[in-house]
Amino acid sequence: MILIIDFGSQYNQLIARRVRENHVYCQIEPPDISLATIKALKPEGIILSGGPASIYSKGAPRVDIGILKLGIPVLGICYGLHYMVDSLGGKVIGSTKREYGFAELLVKKQKGIFTGVNKKTQCWMSHGDSIGSLPAGFTITASTANTPVAAAEDVQRNFYALQFHPEVVHTKEGKKILANFLFEICRCKKSWSMKSFVAHTVEEIRQQVGAEKVILGLSGGVDSSVAAVLLHRAIGKQLTCVFVDNGVLREGEAPRVIEMFKKNLQINLRFARAGKVFLKKLKGVTDPEKKRKIIGRTFIEIFDKEARKIKNVKFLAQGTLYPDLIESRSAFGGPSAVIKSHHNVGGLPKKMNLKLVEPLKHLFKDEVRLLGKELGLSDDVVWRQPFPGPGLAIRIIGEVTAQRLSVLRKADTILIEEIRTNKLYYKLWQSFAVLLPLKSVGIMGDQRTYENILAIRAVTSDDAMTADWAPLPHDIMARISNRIINEVRGVNRVVYDISSKPPSTIEWE
Ligand code: XMP
Repeated sequence: MILIIDFGSQYNQLIARRVRENHVYCQIEPPDISLATIKALKPEGIILSGGPASIYSKGAPRVDIGILKLGIPVLGICYGLHYMVDSLGGKVIGSTKREYGFAELLVKKQKGIFTGVNKKTQCWMSHGDSIGSLPAGFTITASTANTPVAAAEDVQRNFYALQFHPEVVHTKEGKKILANFLFEICRCKKSWSMKSFVAHTVEEIRQQVGAEKVILGLSGGVDSSVAAVLLHRAIGKQLTCVFVDNGVLREGEAPRVIEMFKKNLQINLRFARAGKVFLKKLKGVTDPEKKRKIIGRTFIEIFDKEARKIKNVKFLAQGTLYPDLIESRSAFGGPSAVIKSHHNVGGLPKKMNLKLVEPLKHLFKDEVRLLGKELGLSDDVVWRQPFPGPGLAIRIIGEVTAQRLSVLRKADTILIEEIRTNKLYYKLWQSFAVLLPLKSVGIMGDQRTYENILAIRAVTSDDAMTADWAPLPHDIMARISNRIINEVRGVNRVVYDISSKPPSTIEWE
């Protein structure tokens, strides 16, 4: 495994993904990790990440200096380089000017970390400070016009350092450079695959859980579905899934989930039909945050009630992913502004006094999809578009009523049908309809109509952090609009959302 020390760079998750793409397992840990823990992890190599701080500023993050005395190969990137240089007796010089963007890298030695890399290649810089003098034993291995020490190494001690970012796509041969560190220098083996993950995680789950019972909140989305199937493989009938119909699901969603899990996979499943309770609590509520909070709280109540019907449960399983884990313990970003309260299962563990099982907590989303495939789940589950916990309630602007839900469901069904028929479903990150609390005048036959406006949103994205509105082909947009206006009573105008994220968000509320 490769240990990545997180000095707070926005690119850290990218480093981890690049390592894993090479079939090498890695873990991101905060700088306050103890030397004993590092030793216990037995890493083949250590990557010290970039970060926003200046090495000489107050409170600049540092990791136990013993990390440089373990005899394990170390790669410092940007701030990681500054940390190494400063710790080993060199000098970092502060600068008020940032170097940001592309630079031409001149490689002096096409060996070691630069094996097979062109003599001139494009790299991506993002730094303020730079190297004044290198510690004894180091030599410069690459430069750019503005940065004489763009890369350096001390082969004796197996120390490598880069001022630029090999993990971002703008560094043309960055993948090669990282692979060289893994295979030329650390001598890693390509042993990380979803097959091996299943084998050792099944074992881990069995050890953690023993003969106890586990419950899991199933939403029908990728993460909880994959977690359920993995747990089922490990502990079979000790697992019970709880699926709550909150009344704001899409058409046909509840039967789909029940059929798949209960009938096909024969997983213990409890189904709580609670739509009425949710709708009652949402009556008269129009504020988006209030809607989210009500749905979150009610979900916890219902889930808790359902779970209590199963005796002697000791564990709660969740489909937490690696980005959630890293972000929740980030020492640097501090609490960011709440844009939207994601409810999911946040409040559950505290309320229920259960121990957590989080078998996906070291995986990225794309790895969860691969894992799903490995476990035999269909493309339809593995590549499902994300659907928010608060469901259609945040796609009905204004009050959520049974009647408005019915309008939105019909429109959404038509939209998804067309998107699927035209082979766009898997190309889009999300595609959905939003019901607006606005009416407009129309004409149908010879009659004046005064009905609702419906918005269509379709976006492309890699991770939902940013998203672009999708330029759907005009003929498909025309068909979607025609069908919705003709087939859904209560809608007489369809508009298309042409906003990207940021500054808009994907969901409207
Ligand atoms: P926004 O609207 O913030 O959404 O751009 C980013 C992604 O998150 C999904 N989303 C949610 N997912 N619970 C979830 O599990 C929620 O409360 C929630 N709110 C938004 C959204 O669909 C998009 O994929």
